[in-house]
Amino acid sequence: MRMYDIIMKKRNGGELSKEEIDFFVEGYTKGEIPDYQVSALMMAIYFQKMNETETLNLTMAMAHSGDMLDLSRIKGVKVDKHSTGGVGDKTSLSLTPLVAACGVPVAKMSGRGLGHTGGTIDKLESFPGFTTSLSLDKFFENVNNVGVAIMGQTADLAPADKKLYALRDVTATVDNMSLIASSIMSKKLAAGADSIVLDVKTGSGAFMKSEEDAFALANEMVKIGRGAGRKTFAIVSDMDQPLGNAVGNILEVKEAIDTLKGKGPTDFVELVMTLGTKMLIAGGICEDDESAKKMLTNALESGAALKKLAEFVKAQGGDERYVYDTDLFPKAKFIVPVESPEEGYISHIECDEVGICSLMLGGGRETKDSVIDLAVGLYLTKKRGDYVKKGDILCYIHSDDESNIESVKDRFLKAYTFSAVSPEKTEMIKGII
Ligand code: URA
Repeated sequence: MRMYDIIMKKRNGGELSKEEIDFFVEGYTKGEIPDYQVSALMMAIYFQKMNETETLNLTMAMAHSGDMLDLSRIKGVKVDKHSTGGVGDKTSLSLTPLVAACGVPVAKMSGRGLGHTGGTIDKLESFPGFTTSLSLDKFFENVNNVGVAIMGQTADLAPADKKLYALRDVTATVDNMSLIASSIMSKKLAAGADSIVLDVKTGSGAFMKSEEDAFALANEMVKIGRGAGRKTFAIVSDMDQPLGNAVGNILEVKEAIDTLKGKGPTDFVELVMTLGTKMLIAGGICEDDESAKKMLTNALESGAALKKLAEFVKAQGGDERYVYDTDLFPKAKFIVPVESPEEGYISHIECDEVGICSLMLGGGRETKDSVIDLAVGLYLTKKRGDYVKKGDILCYIHSDDESNIESVKDRFLKAYTFSAVSPEKTEMIKGII
């Protein structure tokens, strides 16, 4: 088999066989096929697309390019959750203890990554002493005893995707539906869960700006998951404005804890409840939405979910007192209000721009070596559809560096659009597949 022939076949609109896909994925992972040939193939796929069978074969080839985690030492049906990401997305922090409190075992391997804020691991490290450096034995033991454990990624999961994603990133071939779906799903399949619940975001803060694209991606990923024999659901949810009110690591941890105390922002609560419902069904704990919602509500109202978070934090070396008293978390040196420059309805928030404000404050990583400031971020007090008068407070900037406050304020205000008429109401949950 020759890489040249595979490139030409795809360039001319042909369908790649499983053998051809296995050949290039294996050859590229081993360093036997050069970047320039794989770049050409990625561009051919970008223009000619791949069908369902090719996409499933590519996913399976990438998933099997490294370790396939065996979670059979964990009792029960293991359900994983994945979000395509966005601004203020602290969903895992509330959702994992909530579903664990209902009996769904959560075994997550996470990386850190780049972004407007840190990832789930960075946020959890806001609890003094919390560590994700667990041995595999301790990881399994914690899931079996506590119901939830998160460890840093040690296993060599989907190395083919790691190489391909890095190559796509510099060859303008990221935004192809089949390539994105196979990239995400190869990692999820290798991580070993029995069932997968996907949160696909849409809007100005999401990878998929249009609902149409978000649904297409969600459908593609669900087909792959089900094709690989895993029970899979996808929820398409709004990311046209930041999720909840908090953007920034400790601010988000506090909001996630408040949510478990029954005091979460309504959009965030709706998302957590919807994802939780599907996780309980995927985990075989409940048969329908109604009984799942009831169980989740009980876990929230009884304090069981909050207690589960405290147990989880303690089991991984963290100080669980912070769960019960969030005033213990450190605060930024400067907390500065941003006032509305005009009167009217907030008709649009350029969500990505609010994320960039968090990055400017030091809340996220621009390169993989950047150090995150956990205390900084933004706390929004007004969101889309709210009516404001001139001088009303739109948000509070939490900063540790007085010199960046004015530039963040300018950028934040440019992200808001005001209108004399109320904008059309948009739904948090766009659909479920
Ligand atoms: N996230 C991934 O993991 N892969 C993609 O291709 C795009 C987003």
